[in-house]
Amino acid sequence: MSESTKLPMKKGFGKTDRTDDWWKGPTAMAAYLGFMIVYATWRGFMESDILFFSEFGASSCENWDVAKGFKDVSECQTMAIENQGSHVLSPLYSPLIFPQSSWIPMELWWMSPAMFILIFPAGFRGTCYYYRKAYYRAFFQQPTGCAVSKPWNEYSGEKGIFVVQNLHRMFMYIAVIYLPILTYDFWLSINFHDASGDAFGVSVGSLVLLLNVILLSGYTFGCHAFRHVVGGGSNHWTGTPMNRIKYRMWRFSTKLNERHKDWALISLFWVMFADFYIWACQDFGLTDIVLIGGL
Ligand code: FES
Repeated sequence: MSESTKLPMKKGFGKTDRTDDWWKGPTAMAAYLGFMIVYATWRGFMESDILFFSEFGASSCENWDVAKGFKDVSECQTMAIENQGSHVLSPLYSPLIFPQSSWIPMELWWMSPAMFILIFPAGFRGTCYYYRKAYYRAFFQQPTGCAVSKPWNEYSGEKGIFVVQNLHRMFMYIAVIYLPILTYDFWLSINFHDASGDAFGVSVGSLVLLLNVILLSGYTFGCHAFRHVVGGGSNHWTGTPMNRIKYRMWRFSTKLNERHKDWALISLFWVMFADFYIWACQDFGLTDIVLIGGL
């Protein structure tokens, strides 16, 4: 019969015999994730008084219906760049949903476009295996660190509200849908157009969106659940052409999965940076420099 042995541990939150700077990693992670959560929440609420423009949908500043009680057009949005013929939509607001659409109950018209869609990327990241490890340690002290005493002894597993973690695969399916939508936003950004006509062009904003799609793809296709979807349940990799395709996809996903942490952290940073860049162009006087072509 096997016996379990408890290793001697110092008592008291953060007490340990370790001599390395074990606290630096979790502290930096708490600061990083905390900042990103606050920023995304702030931006989501910030655009609650939205107005919108022509290129991405139903309304524009010019034809905005003030008679229906919407806000003044001078309070235009900060979620997209729309000047010099370039059109760059922040990924925090894509796919763009107009809260004041006829199919949305009027009680929800106060919401910003971001509030309708951020639940899915947030759910995807919140249930991600890597992020779970990171924020359980950083925020919940489960554990505080290897061989470091934590503030409580109990660990009851992912029960109660944490059963939502089981939805990760569902969130992954939805996250995959975002990729072509964000690619479409990039395509829009290189199709400059205004009243004078259309032209191909590339601005710094276009490149920011392109890199965003690449980073999010690396993160999504390296997801453990995605890797299982493409490679799971296969006993023979070479039997049929479909098996060979699955094998290639699984290998590709595995390669990305090996650096899943890096994809997770960098892609998160870049989504926020892309949004900040667009906000800065709209509100802080930064210019979205056109590098190639344009109008
Ligand atoms: S495990 Fe991280 S996104 Fe799926």
